[in-house]
Amino acid sequence: MVGAILVLSGAGLSAESGLKTFRAEDGLWENYRVEDVATPEAFARDPALVQRFYNERRADVAVARPNPAHEALARLQQAHGESVHLVTQNIDDLLERGGARDVFHMHGEVNSALCAACGHRWPAPDVMEAGHPCPACGAPAARPDIVWFGEMPYHMDRIQAALEASDLFVALGTSGTVYPAAGFRQMAQQLGIRTMEINLDASGALFDEVREGPASTVVPEWVSEVLNG
Ligand code: OAD
Repeated sequence: MVGAILVLSGAGLSAESGLKTFRAEDGLWENYRVEDVATPEAFARDPALVQRFYNERRADVAVARPNPAHEALARLQQAHGESVHLVTQNIDDLLERGGARDVFHMHGEVNSALCAACGHRWPAPDVMEAGHPCPACGAPAARPDIVWFGEMPYHMDRIQAALEASDLFVALGTSGTVYPAAGFRQMAQQLGIRTMEINLDASGALFDEVREGPASTVVPEWVSEVLNG
């Protein structure tokens, strides 16, 4: 065992489950503008469009299934409990459905609804509509429980503490373009923590180790090494 591990995942983890990444040629941000669907200003301007975008994401997630990479990460966590932290930028629940627990969803979760007025959270219905009332306070302020551009990612204090306590930082299936997650590699290296990238196309960033290939193959191989090594 290599000690404490923090795995930061991105859209590449769920790509082989059929969920689109953001920045590929046919990715989500090719068909939508971030400013139209993923900012608080967009939601204020056109809540119906924003709800429709996340309703589509929720429908895609509902039919997707965890792939061997999600399941391998869950095995790693089950075998090593508190010394493995799973942090994800993904808003799907495929890690949980693969068997993982206590996943830090730093960009929120598409299956959760949030009241913009009182902060209450509840399970999102399949289809959310603009002006949907909050079940706690009644305000017509239901929104997807997603961290939009310009908002503060969730769980940052706990993620920072987990990163500082790690011996290995793994960036898995993420382009490393969106902060603060994009700064974790450098932060880890400044703390003397070993870093590894797992990606279909290595980013060229300065990781201590790079494993290139599809997550569904590379992650189970790496997890087997850790568990048997
Ligand atoms: P991106 O779409 O930016 O990057 C996906 C990464 O996954 C790329 O580096 C691909 O090379 C890699 N990849 C694709 N298929 C893969 C596979 N089968 N196995 C391994 N790697 C693969 O997605 P993220 O980095 O997750 O934020 O994007 C970060 C954030 O930007 C998202 O959380 C979202 C987006 O805007 C918000 O919406 C707030």
